[in-house]
Amino acid sequence: MEKKKRLLTGDRASGNSYVIGAYIGTLKNRIARQDEYDTFIFSADYHTLTTHYNQADIIHQNAIDLIKTQISLGMDPEKVTFYRQSRLAQTFRLHLILSMLTPMVELERQPALKEKLQGGHDLTYGLLGYPVLMASDILIVDSDVVPVGKDQEAHIEITRDLANKFNKTYGKALKVPAGLIGEILVGLDGQGKAGKSTGGIFFSDSPEDVRKKVMGMYTDPNRIRATDPGRVEGNPVFIYHDYFNEDKDEINDLKERYVKGTVGDVEVKEKLYAAIEKMLQPVREKRAEVDKLGDKYIVELLEEGEKSANKVADDVIGRVMDAMKI
Ligand code: TRP
Repeated sequence: MEKKKRLLTGDRASGNSYVIGAYIGTLKNRIARQDEYDTFIFSADYHTLTTHYNQADIIHQNAIDLIKTQISLGMDPEKVTFYRQSRLAQTFRLHLILSMLTPMVELERQPALKEKLQGGHDLTYGLLGYPVLMASDILIVDSDVVPVGKDQEAHIEITRDLANKFNKTYGKALKVPAGLIGEILVGLDGQGKAGKSTGGIFFSDSPEDVRKKVMGMYTDPNRIRATDPGRVEGNPVFIYHDYFNEDKDEINDLKERYVKGTVGDVEVKEKLYAAIEKMLQPVREKRAEVDKLGDKYIVELLEEGEKSANKVADDVIGRVMDAMKI
């Protein structure tokens, strides 16, 4: 049998659930490929420290919750290797080596950094080095494909550059991965991205929370009455409809009537709420089952995954040391 290619991705444990935008950006892509690929999913617990170093005590529980949500969404714990970044010590050896190869300007111009600084985070050495750690996560387990949202695309480029530079400098030891880039969902206000820290609709939200958030979404700011012709393009409510409402006829009907001024925002939002709930309801039910298994079950799953991931990482670091003749 041909060996499966490896898919790897991870999430920072800065929140206890995912926003539905993460489904579009990366979750959907990893769930769909878990049979085809040898799938490694890790909690980027150390990466969480880049912005939340003074909240280390939230990381463990958040990591467990994120795994539970992924299982509720259809990730199969029998197939997927789940682990914690912090338990894969070879990552940090590779990180140190790669940091010697990383041009400072690459780190200074990463778009994600600007955003984090605007968000009020301190510019620490660790935050600046975020992409080097991410590259190490990816390269230490011989990843072939890395599903991430578009906001992470620059980090994948840095990863590929570092792998190529290492291979050119010392001899081929690192596999050069490819990104699988997912789209970014706009925020409920039509601005930026709906992220764990910037808000949005979470998989952990109750139907009441979801309803409130949908009803409060921004629409066409120039439309005052339901009889005014409205704009569909760039309108967050319709952007969400396009992603989450499976009933394309309903969307088309709403769009037509919106442009003509024969439908009110309330009806458009009610239907969006119903569509989002249709996705969330089964996830909530599955989550209740997963919760019954308890945290201990997740921790055991992680420990099991850490054994397998460490074997792969030991092999990669062996090749790295051989190539460098250290
Ligand atoms: N930077 C990613 C995010 O914020 C998380 C992450 C860390 C990651 N290391 C990774 C994703 C390695 C993919 C591969 O979403």
